[in-house]
Amino acid sequence: MTDPMTDTMRTVRFHEYGDPADVLRLETTPIPDPGPGRVRVVVHACGLAPADWALCRGLFPGELPRGIGCDVSGTVDAIGEDVTDTAVGELVFGTTDWKNCPTAGAADRAIMDRWVRVPEGLDLVQAAALPMAVDTAYAHLHWLGFDPEKTVLVHGAGSTIGFAAVEIALLRGMRVIATAGETYAQRLRDLGAAVTSYGDGMVDRVAAINRGPVDLVLDTAPVGGALPDLVRIAGGDPKRVLTIADFAAAAELGVRDTFHEDMTQRVEPLPEFAQLAADGRFAVPVARTFPLDQWKAALEISQSGHARGKLLLLPGDSGPAAR
Ligand SMILES: NC(=O)c1ccc[n+]([C@@H]2O[C@H](COP(=O)([O-])OP(=O)(O)OC[C@H]3O[C@@H](n4cnc5c(N)ncnc54)[C@H](OP(=O)(O)O)[C@@H]3O)[C@@H](O)[C@H]2O)c1
Repeated sequence: MTDPMTDTMRTVRFHEYGDPADVLRLETTPIPDPGPGRVRVVVHACGLAPADWALCRGLFPGELPRGIGCDVSGTVDAIGEDVTDTAVGELVFGTTDWKNCPTAGAADRAIMDRWVRVPEGLDLVQAAALPMAVDTAYAHLHWLGFDPEKTVLVHGAGSTIGFAAVEIALLRGMRVIATAGETYAQRLRDLGAAVTSYGDGMVDRVAAINRGPVDLVLDTAPVGGALPDLVRIAGGDPKRVLTIADFAAAAELGVRDTFHEDMTQRVEPLPEFAQLAADGRFAVPVARTFPLDQWKAALEISQSGHARGKLLLLPGDSGPAAR
């Protein structure tokens, strides 16, 4: 909670790179002020993800300390210079300025560098679950090409990014095959995807669903190792396969990966998918929420590789234990 007498707040952050369990600390820090083109929010919900742990380990290094929590929803409580499209008191969600601030979303207040008004009817927890899943899924499907004549296989569709990718591809009229564990298999089928399990025998199971090679493959699994099978599923053509996580194997196999795509070719998908979420036509599944001081429980579940949906911190929740 913030302390108005001392202008301080709680935040989870790191002062050196390393294993997140070793370097992350819950600390009391000054409440940051928004610079030009930034807003500050009272954080309602903050999404955590494997990407946060990668940042702790030194992905995209920069000035330290830094916070975790790239995505938040909350109430605007201060506005920086040149900001004209929101006002104090408005409910917004979007991304935190984790690169340039000593704190990020896992905090009582956060500085945001990109925000969208929360549409009427969209819950603030669901709103905070959207940005990373929607941004990543949408950008990678865009790079593969939204072609309603084509079939896309989403590998690891039980991850938040994979689940969002299935929904987005279906909404754009594509035929979708998904590999997923039991948690969301039925929900993915209900959306309209053909679903099979990942692991041994996946190539044969997909062949039983799709006659001939699959046109496009998006690998969203947080655990690597499947790219050789995914290239086989794509008829042996590594350029039809795009991975968001298995970068070393991609380099060996000639598979496409995030960092070799044209980053300038990105569009803003959040307003469209937030409105669809408000209308009940899109959702990133939420696994659990935790009070801020229970961040370690979220870390452990996330690092198990089986989060089974989005994990979010609720700084305003001083509730009993993690639920
Ligand atoms: N390149 C980028 O721009 C970018 C951006 C953000 C994140 N990422 C990366 O994308 C990956 C997914 O992130 P996320 O936040 O969506 O992850 P997540 O939601 O934490 O993923 C967890 C889920 O993955 C599934 N899973 C576990 N092991 C699997 C396996 N061997 N094969 C297939 N699925 C498996 C499980 O679902 P089941 O219940 O179905 O088993 C689990 O619940 C992470 O590696 C992350 O670092 C990349």
